[in-house]
Amino acid sequence: VAIEKGNYRHFMQKEIFEQPTVVAQTLSSYVRPLEQKVALPQIDFDISAINRVTIVACGTSYYAGMVAKYWFEQFARVPVDIDFASEFRYREPVLEKGGLALFISQSGETADTLAALRHCKAEGQTIAVVVNVPTSSMAREADLLLPTHAGPEIGVASTKAFTCQLAVLAALAAHFAARKGRIDAAEEAEIVRYLLEAPACLNGALQHDDEIAAMAHLIAPARDVLYLGRGPDFPLALEGALKLKEISYIHAEGYAAGEMKHGPIALIDEAVPVIVLAPSGPLFEKTVSNMQEVRARGGQIVLISDAQGLEEAGEGCMATIEMPKVHPLIAPLVYAVPVQLLAYHTACVKGTDVDQPRNLAKSVTVE
Ligand code: G6P
Repeated sequence: VAIEKGNYRHFMQKEIFEQPTVVAQTLSSYVRPLEQKVALPQIDFDISAINRVTIVACGTSYYAGMVAKYWFEQFARVPVDIDFASEFRYREPVLEKGGLALFISQSGETADTLAALRHCKAEGQTIAVVVNVPTSSMAREADLLLPTHAGPEIGVASTKAFTCQLAVLAALAAHFAARKGRIDAAEEAEIVRYLLEAPACLNGALQHDDEIAAMAHLIAPARDVLYLGRGPDFPLALEGALKLKEISYIHAEGYAAGEMKHGPIALIDEAVPVIVLAPSGPLFEKTVSNMQEVRARGGQIVLISDAQGLEEAGEGCMATIEMPKVHPLIAPLVYAVPVQLLAYHTACVKGTDVDQPRNLAKSVTVE
């Protein structure tokens, strides 16, 4: 079946806007709303016996894995190791007996990830795969197949596959936590409720499209852009920078907000836009104080937050984007939208080929 752009200018734009629908679709296979429980596909091994998780992926899928590390450790207290597939294979990783190796991939065909999967299989790890193409090589070789239901993704820069990966990984983390007795039924029900709020919150974030399109004119002339975040939103800073690089060709860097003072702060001047991801929650104050360090050096800040009194926090910023109020658990899903839209509109201002950026391939099947 030919996939059409419909009323959208680009596939990437269409895929960004599909996220509320496809995340809801994906979640419907992983949560039981009536019972308020997470539910995984048939598993024929004892998940509570898993003592270590090794996550391996590339590109945007790798950043989904980074978010998952925070969740698995926080909720299930299971130690997580994560690596780029291309690094993992050649560093002689130590794989303990009883470990789960988790591979994340939109295509299920990325050569480095597939080779890492085969290596882990040969080493006796249990293989779980979060994948968007159910007929792919990775899907076929998995012990536990966790499909995302994002539908075909055409834009080379991944968007909807990423948020669907996060939805699956959050459900998996909750499932782990429940099986390991780390959360009780009431806590599991609470997590399920937050997850089910994600589609509406994604919709809320998409309402800022026009505002972000206007902001893109401020970003387009920049030579460098810095993205800052903390905790599970630090990988979102990395993903925001990756999206901007991929499609607008502007150099961008994602950094852990608290680590900025150890280097990147030297880059800050009036010409460097700094995108700050600061969802309300335990890390908000810390992130804002890092933001103030940027402001004191003349940096042009775009503050993305759902905090009360955003105007006050955003005083002196070039712009603020007010996100829907979300629980910190689902913030990484929801904050994906503004960074995707900012990259998308900046690329449109620059007139680059959004769906087919230079030098990039949708699926990299060479090592
Ligand atoms: C390529 C694509 C990226 C993608 C990465 C990993 O670089 O351009 O958008 O994130 O491969 O692909 P995968 O299919 O394994 O998720």
